[in-house]
Amino acid sequence: MQPNERTMAGLKAGCICKGVKLLRLIEAIDNGATTFAEVAAATGIGDGPCKGKRCREKVRQLLAGRR
Ligand code: FES
Repeated sequence: MQPNERTMAGLKAGCICKGVKLLRLIEAIDNGATTFAEVAAATGIGDGPCKGKRCREKVRQLLAGRR
């Protein structure tokens, strides 16, 4: 990830409901999370009012990009 991409990920929402930035989701994956449940456990996402409908898709795309 380029430095400017990292900066943008620190500004973009990863989980809107819980106020978690995209960069934290990426860091969780960098640290070994391989499923939505693992990213959720590491970051606290997924149990907001939408119950993960929005952030689950973002995590799916991030994980797919790592394969
Ligand atoms: S966006 Fe993550 S729980 Fe709603």
